[in-house]
Amino acid sequence: MIERRLIDWTAERLQLGAAADGVFTSGGSQSNLQALLIARNHAVAGLRQEPANTGLRLPALLEKLRIFTSADSHFSIQKSASMLGMGFDAVISVPCAPDHRMDPAALAEAMAETHDAGLVPMAVVATAGTTDFGAVDPLADLAALARAYGAWFHIDAAYGGGLMVSNRYRHLLDGTRLADSVTVDFHKTFFQPVSSSALLVRDRAMLQHVTYYADYLNPESAALAEIPNQVDKSIQTTRRFDALKLWLTLRIMGADAIGALFDEAIDLATRVGSVLAADDDFELAAAPELSTLVFRYRPRVSGSELAGAVSDAGGRLSEEAADALNPAIRAAVFASGQAVVAGTKVAGRHYLKVTLLNAEATLEDIREIIELLRRTGAQLLANTATTGASA
Ligand SMILES: Cc1ncc(COP(=O)(O)O)c(C=O)c1O
Repeated sequence: MIERRLIDWTAERLQLGAAADGVFTSGGSQSNLQALLIARNHAVAGLRQEPANTGLRLPALLEKLRIFTSADSHFSIQKSASMLGMGFDAVISVPCAPDHRMDPAALAEAMAETHDAGLVPMAVVATAGTTDFGAVDPLADLAALARAYGAWFHIDAAYGGGLMVSNRYRHLLDGTRLADSVTVDFHKTFFQPVSSSALLVRDRAMLQHVTYYADYLNPESAALAEIPNQVDKSIQTTRRFDALKLWLTLRIMGADAIGALFDEAIDLATRVGSVLAADDDFELAAAPELSTLVFRYRPRVSGSELAGAVSDAGGRLSEEAADALNPAIRAAVFASGQAVVAGTKVAGRHYLKVTLLNAEATLEDIREIIELLRRTGAQLLANTATTGASA
């Protein structure tokens, strides 16, 4: 009953309407998988109604289906497509605009091409808070395109879901009211211990795509008698009571206090972003959107010290040298036991990354890490210069 109450509460915050429902899952990946399983079965049911498909077996129908998602979306979309018998290639990666949001014009083009090739746009997966940049896709534009092609519209708000309790940034999630399904990870921006996630659907009837009655566990007679059994809605059977911690947090802190914590993390990221942007030794890949920062150490160096490692423009370390140096900084900092800094690639180049989701982190804490990265980078460069000179 606690889980059901929290699902209703979340669906209301996401403005999914009176027929909404959902279920807790083990995490964002499983929520995305379940969303795409429902979307796939819904699409297959539609295809089976068409006379042209009479007699076609399931694999032949699955071959026609395509999923559209941005180049910056989470890899669980590709993994889900593979597990759903469609293969990684069923996912069409739509380019992002320079601000890392899916480009609606590129989506329109990709969907038109797919349709003209006789294939079926099964789903559009928008991301509300991309893993690297925290970018929120233009939800209303993408929803309109999904609707035009009769495709399922899923929003992966695994990371950005916490915006629903933010008093300052809630508007970023306005488009969730247009979704067929939404993923929310309470173990990310609701600050819950792992795991605590949910999949929400606009139309509770869609959850029947994962229902299978078994006499030994969930007989249909019990469903007809309206005896609650969450297994009817879940792709898991035995499950942890992951709703309980969220329930307690909401009872003790209230939604506004959770939202305020996320606001603080976003504000801290903005401040750290300004520090990095003003620092000549670092390059920020993009201004922060939520609470992530993607940057790299790329100082100016004198040509005599590091012949060959200096770029022509402005005496900065060359792209190639920066590409070798930044992963080495990460590894050295990790080995020192002082900090764990993440990494990613932007346009094929190595970057460092931090995701700020510790409510107690301060600007000073992060400055210390920046100094550690600088010291480590400078030391590694000095070693290269010495080795280069002796060679
Ligand atoms: C946008 C997005 N979607 C999905 C996931 C997967 O979530 P989980 O690790 O809970 O499976 C992540 C995880 O970082 C994510 O950033």
